[in-house]
Amino acid sequence: MISESSFEKLIVALDLDSEKEIEKAVKILSSKNVKFKIGSIAFTKFGPQLVRKFTKKNIDIFVDLKLYDIPNTMKETAKIIAEMPAWAFTVHLKAGEAALTAVRDEVEKIARGKNIRKPLILGVTELTSSKASEEDVLKLVSLASKTGLDGVIASAKEASAIKSKFKNLKVVTPGIRSVLDEKGDQQRITTAQAAFSAGADYIVVGRPIISKKDYLKAAEEVLSA
Ligand code: C5P
Repeated sequence: MISESSFEKLIVALDLDSEKEIEKAVKILSSKNVKFKIGSIAFTKFGPQLVRKFTKKNIDIFVDLKLYDIPNTMKETAKIIAEMPAWAFTVHLKAGEAALTAVRDEVEKIARGKNIRKPLILGVTELTSSKASEEDVLKLVSLASKTGLDGVIASAKEASAIKSKFKNLKVVTPGIRSVLDEKGDQQRITTAQAAFSAGADYIVVGRPIISKKDYLKAAEEVLSA
């Protein structure tokens, strides 16, 4: 039996190009209070109205567009995302201190001014499909801490090192697979339970759930592995 609190730490990546399937996944899984990630696939196809459709129903949406640009462009984009209002969104830490600080200041300003919940700003370290070293990752994480971001995206392999050095940063971990799942393009993979034991606050799971027919059963299987 999977506890309700485990479901609340699950972020389901809606990497689907069918709005009908997206609606179905959200309808079924929101009963368990999971969170949902809308990334470049669904966002490019269905646009911000897809995000707004769910946020209006108080469903937590993580807008994963991995912003990486000059400070002004990142800040202006972050403003629009904050107004959706997203529960969380991603920026690339490699964008650098000036851009990250501009994003943080803007998002805080919007949340205060509009009296809305401030979205979590999550810094992307290295993609879990890459073979980066822990040292590379920790260097980027220290920039997230310095610029006052809320958390980072990192593989379970780095989660415990991050949690011990940067106590107030949340760690969000993709690359979750059970032994039976296809690895796909992910390099640094782990099971859900191993990710939580390593200190992940949330896990992001796409294909192991959304490629299955029964989304709820698949989510339970992922969480128990
Ligand atoms: O299907 P799968 O479980 O591999 O999906 C993982 C999701 O997490 C994808 O939407 C991918 O874009 C995202 N992600 C990732 N690695 C990162 C950041 C985000 O896999 N570092």
